[in-house]
Amino acid sequence: MPTLSSSDVPQKASPCVMVIFGASGDLTKRKLLPALANLVQEGLLSQQFAIIGFSFDTMTTEAFRTKLTEEMKEFAPETLGNDLWKWLVERIYYIQGDFNDPAAYQRLKDQIAEVEKNHNTQGNRFHYLAVAPNFFSPIVKKLSEAGLTQEADGHWTRVIVEKPFGHDFASAIQLNKELKEVLAEKQIYRIDHYLGKETVQNVMVFRFANSIIEPLWNRTYIDHVQITAAETVGVEHRGAFYETAGALRDMVPNHLFQLLTLTAMEPPISFEADAVRDKQAEILHAIQMPTPEEVLQNTVRGQYGEGVIENERVPAYRSEPNVAPNSNTETFVALKLKIDNWRWGDVPFYLRTGKRLCHRVTEIAIRFRRTPFTLFRRSPIHDPRTNQLVIHIQPDEGISLRFGAKVPGSVMKLGLVNMDFDYARDFGTSHSTGYERLLYDCMIGDATLFQRADQVEAAWSVIEPIIDVWKALPARGFPNYAAGSWGPGEADDLLERDGRAWRDVLAEEGGAKCPAASAKHS
Ligand code: BG6
Repeated sequence: MPTLSSSDVPQKASPCVMVIFGASGDLTKRKLLPALANLVQEGLLSQQFAIIGFSFDTMTTEAFRTKLTEEMKEFAPETLGNDLWKWLVERIYYIQGDFNDPAAYQRLKDQIAEVEKNHNTQGNRFHYLAVAPNFFSPIVKKLSEAGLTQEADGHWTRVIVEKPFGHDFASAIQLNKELKEVLAEKQIYRIDHYLGKETVQNVMVFRFANSIIEPLWNRTYIDHVQITAAETVGVEHRGAFYETAGALRDMVPNHLFQLLTLTAMEPPISFEADAVRDKQAEILHAIQMPTPEEVLQNTVRGQYGEGVIENERVPAYRSEPNVAPNSNTETFVALKLKIDNWRWGDVPFYLRTGKRLCHRVTEIAIRFRRTPFTLFRRSPIHDPRTNQLVIHIQPDEGISLRFGAKVPGSVMKLGLVNMDFDYARDFGTSHSTGYERLLYDCMIGDATLFQRADQVEAAWSVIEPIIDVWKALPARGFPNYAAGSWGPGEADDLLERDGRAWRDVLAEEGGAKCPAASAKHS
């Protein structure tokens, strides 16, 4: 077991009430409650804590508690059957109401007052908006009208806003404007659940806590960067939402840009929220805005047809529930971006994400430049592949470094080997949902892992030219990749034109090969 060099024992979160809007939905049972239970387990939640669920469904507090207890059997069974759940469930309350009905907010206000008295939560509260995006602004406005957003006498009030935050540049600006009419920026916590992942947070630690890494982290040593977020699932039950979003909006300005900015940012002067977020924002501002011609050249969109995944036949996107039979929504996107700054000049960043791909993997692959002199050019050991560092975000969390080594024997033969760090092996596994740290940070007032208004707007501004060109020139030839492949063939061409290739995740790790970035699908 490695030694942890961490400094302080973390403080307990402040006393507070958490109000969950949309509490009867998926997020509460899948992520929020299991995460809160883990925080209790770790001793990080205050004893003076309570939850109020607010939702449209008619239910009593008793019924809500029973429902959650039932759901935990599936989503966090380890929390049941001990005092932990008993402790937590006793402090859960429920208010039924329509998000647009002022009377419901009055009931909520009374409930908060009662809970604050019973659990001595000291007037601190945060509202978690686990609702459809069209409710973000109306809820915040109604909360304010009911006097539930003010901060007075040293008590804090915060609001966590889920994604998607707007659907383009203009709507993100508008939403920020509406939220800021009633809230101060420091009260708004825009969540991106990728920032709750240990491996994503580790990108900063890996880069800035290891003196051997940072000197190599620039255009002198790095040839290019590949960021992949591949999913095997389709759109599941979210067809209606996905039809209005598509892979670009759903994954790029948020999750992929988190990975990109953490990989590319300059060292911040501290881990204070604004110091880190300033550096991330700088990267977004440094991304070259593509012209329409560059959009056509440097972006690829795709949509899955039917195919086979894990030996099962799966339907085409156009046959999924709530999807139009002639839909032109993309379920795959690949992009080449350039960051115009001193560190990254001429180093392309290739991003790709898609649904129904052949393998579930999220990773950042850093390809280093070749050695300046190919010493082994005329010998059988010459191998064009270079050093590569892969940060495995999920599912097999870890980091691996590939380098060349002589294969033992009487002839010179080059082998490529990996040096691996494996989270589970080296630190043990945990039941973390990825929301623990985010909820805890909100309760202690640390916004480092949340998005500031300007970051969200900058991210949308980067993809705005792509949205515009794609809208003006609807995709032709969809579906253009078979479910179970690596996406459309054009995604391979994007790198091939630069003399490069996507990392073949499975083959490089000694596994089976998926069909190449797609056999063109008819
Ligand atoms: C969500 C997207 O934000 O992230 C989904 O809306 C996607 O479409 C999901 O499946 C991926 O998250 P994770 O944590 O499973 O990689």
